[in-house]
Amino acid sequence: DEEEQKAEESSDLDTSSDEEEDENVTNPTETRDPKETDAKEEVTEEQKATEQKEQKEKKISEQEKVQNKAPSQPAVFIPVDRSPEIQEARLKLPVLAEEQVIMEAVRENPGIVICGETGSGKTTQVPQFLYEAGYASDGQIIGITEPRRVAAVSMSHRVAKEMNLPPQVVSYQIRYEGNVTSDTKIKFMTDGVLLKEIQKDFLLRRYRVIIIDEAHERSVYTDILIGLLSRIVPLRNKKGMPMKLLIMSATLRVEDFTDNQRLFRTPPPVIKVDSRQFPVTIHFNKRTPMEDYTGEAFHKTCKIHRMLPPGGILVFLTGQAEVHNLCRRLRNAFPFRKNNTTADTSEAMRKFKKAKQKKKAVSLPRIDLDNYSALPVDEGDEDREAGIGDEEDGGSDLDIGDDLADSEEKADPSIPLYVLPLYSLLAPEQQAKVFRPPPPGTRLCVVATNVAETSLTIPGIKYVVDCGRVKKRFYDRVTGVSSFKVTWTSQASANQRAGRAGRTEPGHCYRLYSSAVFGDFSLFSEAEITRRPVEDLVLQMKDLNIDKVVNFPFPTPPSTEALVAAEQLLVSLGALEEPPRTGRVKQIQQASLSCPITPLGRAMASFPVTPRYAKMLALGKQQDCLPYVIAVVAAMTVREIFEDLDRPARSEEESTKLTQRRARMTQMRRLWAGQGAALQLGDLMVLLGAVGACEFAGCTSKFCEDNGLRYKAMVEIRKLRGQLTNAVNAVCPEVGVFVDPKMTPPTEHQVVCLRQIVLAGLGDHLARRVQAEDLLDPKWKNGYKTPLMDDPVFIYPNSALFKTLPEFVVYQEVMETTKMYMRGVSAVEAEWIPQLLPQYCHFSSPEESPSPWFCSSTGTIRCHRKSTFFRVGWQLPAVEMA
Ligand code: CDP
Ligand code: MG
Repeated sequence: DEEEQKAEESSDLDTSSDEEEDENVTNPTETRDPKETDAKEEVTEEQKATEQKEQKEKKISEQEKVQNKAPSQPAVFIPVDRSPEIQEARLKLPVLAEEQVIMEAVRENPGIVICGETGSGKTTQVPQFLYEAGYASDGQIIGITEPRRVAAVSMSHRVAKEMNLPPQVVSYQIRYEGNVTSDTKIKFMTDGVLLKEIQKDFLLRRYRVIIIDEAHERSVYTDILIGLLSRIVPLRNKKGMPMKLLIMSATLRVEDFTDNQRLFRTPPPVIKVDSRQFPVTIHFNKRTPMEDYTGEAFHKTCKIHRMLPPGGILVFLTGQAEVHNLCRRLRNAFPFRKNNTTADTSEAMRKFKKAKQKKKAVSLPRIDLDNYSALPVDEGDEDREAGIGDEEDGGSDLDIGDDLADSEEKADPSIPLYVLPLYSLLAPEQQAKVFRPPPPGTRLCVVATNVAETSLTIPGIKYVVDCGRVKKRFYDRVTGVSSFKVTWTSQASANQRAGRAGRTEPGHCYRLYSSAVFGDFSLFSEAEITRRPVEDLVLQMKDLNIDKVVNFPFPTPPSTEALVAAEQLLVSLGALEEPPRTGRVKQIQQASLSCPITPLGRAMASFPVTPRYAKMLALGKQQDCLPYVIAVVAAMTVREIFEDLDRPARSEEESTKLTQRRARMTQMRRLWAGQGAALQLGDLMVLLGAVGACEFAGCTSKFCEDNGLRYKAMVEIRKLRGQLTNAVNAVCPEVGVFVDPKMTPPTEHQVVCLRQIVLAGLGDHLARRVQAEDLLDPKWKNGYKTPLMDDPVFIYPNSALFKTLPEFVVYQEVMETTKMYMRGVSAVEAEWIPQLLPQYCHFSSPEESPSPWFCSSTGTIRCHRKSTFFRVGWQLPAVEMA
């Protein structure tokens, strides 16, 4: 019954605005061919719509009878007991001057937009305005979303402190943790968490107000939330359960939200908060270091500290590893009194490690349905990628020139430098340090990722050092796998960073690049959704019963091609129902953009990995393969688990060492590739062997170093295995899989099953070796033909299957270096293809085509129908062996 209601509620999302949009979007200028089928369809569609409407109306009137219509405006005033110091500091915030205007606009409109410079008080004060005005007094609460975990946690603490309320009342919820209680009135959360809540309760009945913070960041989940809320808010108001939406942005560029007919028919009013910014002098570098910007940041920071008057320094780098590297160098150069911070930090570190160990012990083996481990989102944490083991390693990022440079700069400064790191994954107690005043007689220096750009305001910053770069996720068009790359930031971001120096007095911003390079930056950062794969988003939306994703009111829509490709992939994976194949081309196209989700798709939607790998997880329970599938999927998702030993050596000694390590790695790869049947699983067997061996040895940094594995990658794989295990258990509790550190290698039987599961997931990455008789062009020698590419692709020389050259393979990705190389290759058997991937096959009788197997240029695989195949299917208890 609940399910039904859910489906109905979100179907409103399709219809409430789409009656019009359908006309515009799916039937552009072309005239409709009045065919009988068409007419019929329309009639049934109409009938359905009327029926639905009638049902809905009935329901609403019933509801209204049951519960007295909630008052549309709260009439109470809830007093808040603030300390005099807090009250005084608040009054200086520009947003306080706009309180009346903001609250009036909230009263009169379902949605408003607030623009104001970072530090003007939006995040800390607006929730308090709403609280005081009674928006959290009728059992409902105020929700605020942040794209970053750090912001959600630290802002909840700050607001609780300002309001003199306990954390049970002003709470937070992020992916792995939270302190929300039944007494919670104000709830800070990551955008991914709210998206997940919409999946559970489409109307978000718990909330009276939703504030979408940091909307200018244009994170994918923030964008989707705004799209969803643009429908949920009117729906709530229609049902007599009023709700308000506030969108807050640090830039004035909000037209994607306001001048957007698809989103809001009546544009929401925009309230501008005056900034109280002091002038910031910008200093450009003469030259632009292309590689070692961390080194450049180090020199610049040293110089500022030695030569410039007091004032905090804020350095912007791109990721966790860089942040730690620079912190270490700065601490070496300006050692801080041992009995103070150093001891303090290591004590905190010890506690953090202990807490982490404890957490590990409870979180791995068993499931907890309310734990958001099944969240298929990463909540926009771009510095997440940098690895989790950072705090513990210290050695792995050390570049050679490090020690030299440090001794050069080692001075005896009269003022100690108090160096603090800041990035998303930092332990909360460490994060909180940046907001406290530095120890007396020291200068504060915060080394941060772009988390400090707009989400957090650090007090007392006078100097900003900006590397000009940002770590971003990129979409790999060939593989559909996303990756992180460091690129130039935008002019808007660089100016935001500079602005951090002018909060309390005039400041200086040192840009580690030239003004010419700045001139080449793009003006604004693009919305993340336009440079990201969308198959996982499409799957999430279908899971919300939004079937026509093309009609979804995205603030900035992804391209139709991207949406079509995503739907096609999801259909071929069985996550969406197949569109009808009959009818006119246009009808088919339209239908293929509105395929509903299947039960398999729902399961896949709850696994936090790309849908190809999610399919493997969904099939993994057969033949007890799940622990192996989880390990392989985790290793494929983390990527690059082997250390790069091909780097040039800087000394003869290093060269000998590298040669030895390479030899060892080759030997280990061969060992992990196994023997006999296991060999056919190819590179994925190597991954499995590496994970198994590493876990068996206790996942130590020594084991990794000795065997050419990246320690950080292995630690992340371990964490992801835990998370995937929880997610699988949540979907299939009867399987009861747990992470076994001492995983034994798969049996031959299991290897066969694993290869089929891999084929089922990577079906669109199938390649066939070019047969001798087809070899017209020598460039195809040892080459493979794939359905989608014209040119041959090759097995990578360090692949376990490089010498074997199996006839059919599937691959994880294609990388172009000197040639187009497939990586992560597994061999598959020809006769599995028609059984497991019938969607890619053309079936014919032997008389029709002389050669039973080939990849045609149209991207299909022709084969003869055979009667005896292995069967792998969702919800089958086991693989049936023919
Ligand atoms: O959201 P917005 O950038 O407009 O400002 P905010 O985050 O609400 O910050 C308002 C003020 O509170 C700033 O001056 C911050 O320095 C201060 N603040 C603080 O002192 N400690 C915190 N934990 C958070 C904010
Ligand atoms: Mg803010």
